[in-house]
Amino acid sequence: MLDDIDRSARQVLTGNDRGGYTVPTAGLYPYQWNWDSAFAALGFSTFDANRAWQEIETLFSGQWADGMVPHILFHKQDSSYFPGPEVWGGNGPVPSSGISQPPVATSFARLIYTGDPALSRPRLTALYPSMLAWHRWFMRWRLDNGAVCATHPWEAGRDNSPDWDQAMARIEPLEVGKYERRDTDHVSAKMRPGKEDYDRYIWLVRLGQRLNWNQAELLEANPFRVADPTMTFICLRAARDLLETGQEFGLDVEGLETDIAILEDGAETLWNDTLGCYDSRTVPGTHNNVQSSASFLSWYAGLNDEKQLPRLRRALSSVRYPMASVDSESSEFEELRYWRGPTWAFMNYLIGLGLSEFGLAEADALKESTRSLISKSGFFEYYSPVDGEAAGGGSFAWTAAVWLAWAGRRTEGA
Ligand code: DGY
Repeated sequence: MLDDIDRSARQVLTGNDRGGYTVPTAGLYPYQWNWDSAFAALGFSTFDANRAWQEIETLFSGQWADGMVPHILFHKQDSSYFPGPEVWGGNGPVPSSGISQPPVATSFARLIYTGDPALSRPRLTALYPSMLAWHRWFMRWRLDNGAVCATHPWEAGRDNSPDWDQAMARIEPLEVGKYERRDTDHVSAKMRPGKEDYDRYIWLVRLGQRLNWNQAELLEANPFRVADPTMTFICLRAARDLLETGQEFGLDVEGLETDIAILEDGAETLWNDTLGCYDSRTVPGTHNNVQSSASFLSWYAGLNDEKQLPRLRRALSSVRYPMASVDSESSEFEELRYWRGPTWAFMNYLIGLGLSEFGLAEADALKESTRSLISKSGFFEYYSPVDGEAAGGGSFAWTAAVWLAWAGRRTEGA
């Protein structure tokens, strides 16, 4: 039987459905976002598998000829968001941004398939070549010593994390010109990135647009390059999922085993022994000395990391509602400011999924605290990890999806 929260979660998804794709939340994010959309698909798969596949198919309808799947698809113009399609000048079949996002969609397609193989097999078979092309694009354009790099903070999706401070400081956002932020029309400025970050976000967009998103030229010209746990771990899992599907269905798996070994070695370059956790590296440059929630995605990537367990346990016990996006004991921690402290239900799900796959009891603790967080505060974008105060946008698709697929389920798995 559906309880009230389940029903509201479904309503968030159907309310954010714009016909074939789902917006993260009206107003603040009025378009199709790449990894948000993967979560929407996961949420839909709990009650409408066909709609789940449609979500992923619409996402791939925006794939560029070189294999890149953009981080935003601007299906219909909406003035409530900046920067829109005219600022990005994307080159794909659908107006889009010019950067990508971690390929959660590839792994969730596999999860949705295992939940409903009969309906899903033809849909996954049809999408497989596009997913493989996306994987190859990451391998070709985003690697540094085997770790996957973000070329814009929005590419890793953790926009204002201290992980980027070193690389962002290299940008002098001189010719950024006049622009008007729209995010702070919807959400309090104290929960959003500051102006110094925004100027640099827009500066990077203008650079990419000027170079027509030519990756070879950007590799030379873009001062922002950070090898990152989010990108690396999510790409690694996606590669494993592709290999499994490809072998099971008898499809092209050329190069995947080698790529997995490269990404595994790359993940080790993120290990920060002083900190005792995985940590981003600025390229060229040093470790950023940040314990973020993304550090704990290693299990999701299929790495059984005893060496990170002490840090994990500390992170789980240091706040009432883990996982803080930045170590709550560090000087950078800011309880409500977006990726500098708040807890994100979708990140908890990814971490919890990995932990449960290795049979670690910490998965249950994380699931339970996420469950009580959402029950108490509703379907928000993120929350204070200290007292669970809701923050960012409301009626948020990925939080509703996480409730339906994981946090709201008492009986199965993590
Ligand atoms: C934003 O506009 O805040 C988004 O995170 C960009 O992807």
